[in-house]
Amino acid sequence: ANNKKKDIMDEEEGDEDVEAAEQDGGGESGVSETEQREGKGGAGSKKAGSMQVPTTFNEMFLFNGAVMGFGGSLWMQEVLGSFDAMVTNVANSYRLQEECDTLSLNIAKYSGAINLSEFKAVMLASLRSLVPTDWNSAHEVAWTWLWDNIARMLKSLIGKPAVQEKALGRFLMSLNEDSQNYLRREFFKGFFALAPAGQDYFKQSTTRLYFIADKVVEMTLEMYRDPKKVVEDISALGLRHVGYGVPTEFFAPFVSGAVELIRTMTTDPNAEDGFRWSLSLVSRILVRTINEGSTIVMKAINTNNARQLEKAVACAPRGKRSMWLLDITVGTQSISPLYWSIESGSLESAKAMIRDLLIIRADRDNYYYGADDLFTRHPDVIERLCADAQALLPGLLDGLIWRSRLTQDGQRRVNYYIKHLVQDADGNFNKCLDWLVEAGDPKIMCHQVVELFSDLVWGGIANRFFMFGKCWFLFTLGLFIISQSVLQHFPESQGIRTSTMVIRCFIYVASLGRLFHAQLSEAIGDCRARRFIRLSGGIRVPAYLGMMKNAISFALMLCLMLMLAEEPIIWCVVVNHNANLFTQYCRDGDVNLQVYEPVSMVAMLLYWTLVLDLSVVSTRISAFVLVCGRTVSELGLTLLAMAYLIVAFASAISSLNHNSEAFKGIPNAMLTLTEMSLSMYSTDNSEALLETPIVLFVVACFLILGSIFLLNLLVAQLNAAYAAVYADMVGYARLDRGKIINETVAGVSNKRWSRWLASLRFDERLEYNEGDVGVAGGLQLLEPANANPTNVDMILRFGGSTSPAMQWPEPDEEDNESDKFETWLQLVLFC
Ligand code: HEM
Repeated sequence: ANNKKKDIMDEEEGDEDVEAAEQDGGGESGVSETEQREGKGGAGSKKAGSMQVPTTFNEMFLFNGAVMGFGGSLWMQEVLGSFDAMVTNVANSYRLQEECDTLSLNIAKYSGAINLSEFKAVMLASLRSLVPTDWNSAHEVAWTWLWDNIARMLKSLIGKPAVQEKALGRFLMSLNEDSQNYLRREFFKGFFALAPAGQDYFKQSTTRLYFIADKVVEMTLEMYRDPKKVVEDISALGLRHVGYGVPTEFFAPFVSGAVELIRTMTTDPNAEDGFRWSLSLVSRILVRTINEGSTIVMKAINTNNARQLEKAVACAPRGKRSMWLLDITVGTQSISPLYWSIESGSLESAKAMIRDLLIIRADRDNYYYGADDLFTRHPDVIERLCADAQALLPGLLDGLIWRSRLTQDGQRRVNYYIKHLVQDADGNFNKCLDWLVEAGDPKIMCHQVVELFSDLVWGGIANRFFMFGKCWFLFTLGLFIISQSVLQHFPESQGIRTSTMVIRCFIYVASLGRLFHAQLSEAIGDCRARRFIRLSGGIRVPAYLGMMKNAISFALMLCLMLMLAEEPIIWCVVVNHNANLFTQYCRDGDVNLQVYEPVSMVAMLLYWTLVLDLSVVSTRISAFVLVCGRTVSELGLTLLAMAYLIVAFASAISSLNHNSEAFKGIPNAMLTLTEMSLSMYSTDNSEALLETPIVLFVVACFLILGSIFLLNLLVAQLNAAYAAVYADMVGYARLDRGKIINETVAGVSNKRWSRWLASLRFDERLEYNEGDVGVAGGLQLLEPANANPTNVDMILRFGGSTSPAMQWPEPDEEDNESDKFETWLQLVLFC
């Protein structure tokens, strides 16, 4: 599009220059061939002194076209767009025909007469202007021959596409539901009859085949309507067919089968011709794309065998090895073998590719490490793996670690190549952590690399901002405690009353105001984006309330609003003018206090619950809080069972005729049983029980079930639940911290972030061993030598030629044997 825009602008400039030339008195818009040949004439050379001389063929063509009066022949630009492909494929008659076919569809969109010889005149004039000294009659003959060939092909097609498009469109519109179903049903039958082996490639359900048949038919019409887009789509489709491993010999019977079918369904020869011509063009483009895109890597992917994949990629020049695995481009379309293997479920191949990409290889001149290529080509690779192939994530993360086999002073060098996890291509905070948190896998969160990079961001920048944000919260909590739980226990005085009033005003304005603003903006955001969750009972609430923290903040906001409405100080001032200023004890205030105080107590508990957020500062504390949260449901179940026993036994005891005051009536009995379960029942009262043996017996049964059985069951349940979550609790704590890091870093200014990022110096190359400076993009740390013992050099080093065009030598058998011995040695030594 940019080129086109540039061409059009060039053309406009050309027009202006022509006008200028005419004013100068030249007046001649045509270009004499003799003048051109002699190097004097030609618009290009004429204007050379006064303007920028066109240097490329396209520029010169547009310029000459304008000078020669063909500026309005826009179809020429279409030809110009395809001209390069036609010239470069002149020796390939199939390809030349394909280009002419698509070109004929493109120029069919232009109204007005199309005189192909005009293009020839401008083309020859432009070529002469570009190479005036080298141009000779042999060139003239060759280019004339080329154009005559192209013109012959185009002429045979001109006028046809419009007629065929109309006829095909009419035919497809005339199909009723039955005919459509017939077409879908029979579409593949004809193909399978002509090429029975083709059936092996279609393993999908019939409905999927109907869908493909519809698409193919749709494509034949779309080819006439929007040829440019369809040609692009077909390139992508062709690359997908490479992935399906379709041999190209099947395309001819596929087209024949479809054409035969259409022949039986229409009597309009134009519709049939249109379908045949369009489908065969689609098929030719597909076949070409498949031929160009069928690399040995793509073929190896279809076997889903790591060894085959390794063999295929071993043929790659060392400088292009990564791109063999990451990019196959045909025309404007490209496909990634790595993503394709994930998409098609060939996870063995995908695993082998990731491993191959992340092996550090070296010759004397260069280090080759595919991490940069991988993250540049696929910035979303972590997201993709989290969504579609979580099993491959550990392999990818392992590949970002280099560990020295040498140790020094009990320490070992470890390089963590985490640049692409921390920053994206624009230097902003990468969304990797967000994706990992969303994936919610506690095990991955405990991978060394994830631990390192998340701790780095947390310790370097996020924790300060997080704590800063929390300071305000702690300050309001402090004030809330003073106003609600401290000041009211001091002897009443005007000073105390005024201070209480001032602090409460602050709480209502600053804390409640802030909470209200935050809740409102979250709720509006969710409503606008139509993000809702359904509570049990079918009530829909904005999705942000699904998070525990937000729900607690919402409850706190409601409590503070209720407190404001019931605030006894305000009521005493407004209604009871005789009371002391700012007192909360007056006639009306006392009534309000009955609601106000319990709500204030709940608000206090909610404030303290929100403080638990601070536990993320330490993963140990955070993990403990999480364990409590996860096991609390067991406690809930026990309390439920206890309540059930209390109600059951209280009603049972009340049905007896006894004199024990403590068990008179269900409420009394329930209260007594509750006291007993909580060990609050006074032993002084137990004598009354002895008087009624039956009550004593029932109470004993209750105590055995409630206090002995249920309590011990609770202990057992907590034990089991703790053991189940213990293994992952640090991972869960890290997930929580990850969430907070993402939220916090989003609020950090770009300047601060860039300053911190620069301090990590990711562009500095890291040393492997003394004096051996390797690849940049990571951090080097020292770890105790016995933490992760290894005696294998993680860098594959090769001697010989260092040309990037050379393949890596195959590791020879001897090396393999020594590798095996090393692995065995490692097993014996360290396992
Ligand atoms: C002109 C010829 C053809 C056209 C226009 C065509 C078009 C399509 C389209 C539109 C799809 C839908 C899925 C996608 O977008 O990737 C598809 C899938 C497929 N095609 Fe073709 N196709 C052609 C020829 C063939 C031939 C000759 C074979 C093999 C014998 C073949 C095998 C497949 C297979 C295996 C799928 C995958 C189906 C699936 O997984 O859902 N195609 N094709």
